Amino acid sequence: MIDTELLRNICIRRIRSDEPIPFRLLLDADPSWNAVSKYLESSEIHIALLNNKIIASMVLYPLAQATLEIKNIAVASEFQGRGIGQRLLKEATQIAVAKTASNIIIGTSNSSIGQLYLYQKTGFEITDIKYNFFLDNYPEPIIENGIQCKHMIMLRKFVCSCFT
Ligand code: ACO
Repeated sequence: MIDTELLRNICIRRIRSDEPIPFRLLLDADPSWNAVSKYLESSEIHIALLNNKIIASMVLYPLAQATLEIKNIAVASEFQGRGIGQRLLKEATQIAVAKTASNIIIGTSNSSIGQLYLYQKTGFEITDIKYNFFLDNYPEPIIENGIQCKHMIMLRKFVCSCFT
């Protein structure tokens, strides 16, 4: 449920170079340290703060001039389910428009039922399946919602820059 009071009190902005990278959050969304450290090199990290404490993060990677990829999105567990994820996805749309990108992509596992629901609810459409992505790239089996995480489901949302 949307917590309007909480959303009113958070501040979302790009992380500063003197601030610590919120690795716990990043690894919550993507347990592969290898993958995270690789895409962080060329990405922007955006954070949500409450009372100056980081409670959520989002990593944006410029895949191509027209395409921004949300590589990683995470909300601290005690703040999940209160609308921050949706707010970050909206922020990503605004950032994409500001960068004159025409679309945003995001990938998640076949077993991430809540995430697939959230992304489709916020306007993303499934475009592609990277078969066996998690089997081929992650050393340990991952089980979520009683389902083995095997394939990466890719979703895309077109954004409109016509009003910028
Ligand atoms: N299980 C069940 N439902 C979920 C889940 C889930 N894991 N995640 C989101 N939802 C649903 C909520 O019930 C809510 O539905 P409603 O509005 O109809 O009630 C809706 O999706 C949106 O919820 P928000 O409160 O806006 O999302 P939240 O602040 O919880 O952020 C996020 C969503 C980022 C997925 C958060 O739950 C999280 O950090 N999860 C752990 C890390 C993770 O899985 N990150 C995404 C991996 S994929 C990637 O990073 C590209």
